[in-house]
Amino acid sequence: MTGLAVESIEVAYGNITALHGVSLAVEDGTICAIVGANGAGKTTTLNAICGLRTLRAGRVLLGGRDISGVPAHDLVPMGLVQVPEGRRVFSRLTVRENLGMGAFRRKEGKAELAADLDRVLEIFPRLKERLGQTAGTLSGGEQQMLAMGRALMSAPKTLLMDEPSMGLAPMFVDQLFDTIVTINKLGVTVLLVEQNAVMALEIAQMAYVLQSGQIVLSGPGPELIDTEAVREAYLG
Ligand SMILES: Nc1ncnc2c1ncn2[C@@H]1O[C@H](COP(=O)(O)OP(=O)(O)OP(=O)(O)O)[C@@H](O)[C@H]1O
Ligand SMILES: [Mg+2]
Repeated sequence: MTGLAVESIEVAYGNITALHGVSLAVEDGTICAIVGANGAGKTTTLNAICGLRTLRAGRVLLGGRDISGVPAHDLVPMGLVQVPEGRRVFSRLTVRENLGMGAFRRKEGKAELAADLDRVLEIFPRLKERLGQTAGTLSGGEQQMLAMGRALMSAPKTLLMDEPSMGLAPMFVDQLFDTIVTINKLGVTVLLVEQNAVMALEIAQMAYVLQSGQIVLSGPGPELIDTEAVREAYLG
């Protein structure tokens, strides 16, 4: 079933149209990737989906329900969550407090939240060793883990990620992709935007190539790796 459907959305910044009718479908339980050159409109697409950009045309459906124009904070309880880009953690709060912030709109009991915290710490053992550490003193890679962990604490059904590997050392990038697959296997649908196009395409059941605000190619990720459109996007 299509969990998330983007239908012919248009987004403009003043006179400049950034998205010219972008459509995509993200099936429940899958990993979907959006790849494309700098400025193609990837971030704009994610922001439009999660209510951070106004649509000039088109609509976004989540589980069949029209969520166009619903603000980001109201989408979180509906299960649609974006991992903040650039590792935006609360730098003066501890790791534990940051993770708690992720759950702060949830209404479940303490036991359930504690179980979810355990699950997140199992995915990110490095955070477990650093629960009392101030987030601002974590390494870049650790802050990225925390940003993802915090998003997971809000119990997402669908997670949007904008270049989660940005700035990570190659060793951490491999680990990050393993983690994304793990999170997906736990039942979370993932919509992933990545500069590491080949790695993203390898794990994506479905992928879309965005060029100047338009989808120019789509298909199962691995099948797109050797295409002209992907080469063009990353070699300029
Ligand atoms: N706040 C803004 N004001 C004006 N123009 C913007 C704004 N944000 C994005 N744009 C423009 O919209 C287009 C799409 O930008 P977007 O950030 O979505 O690209 P992207 O595919 O995420 O690129 P990158 O790979 O560099 O992150 C670009 O031409 C960009 O200059
Ligand atoms: Mg971007």
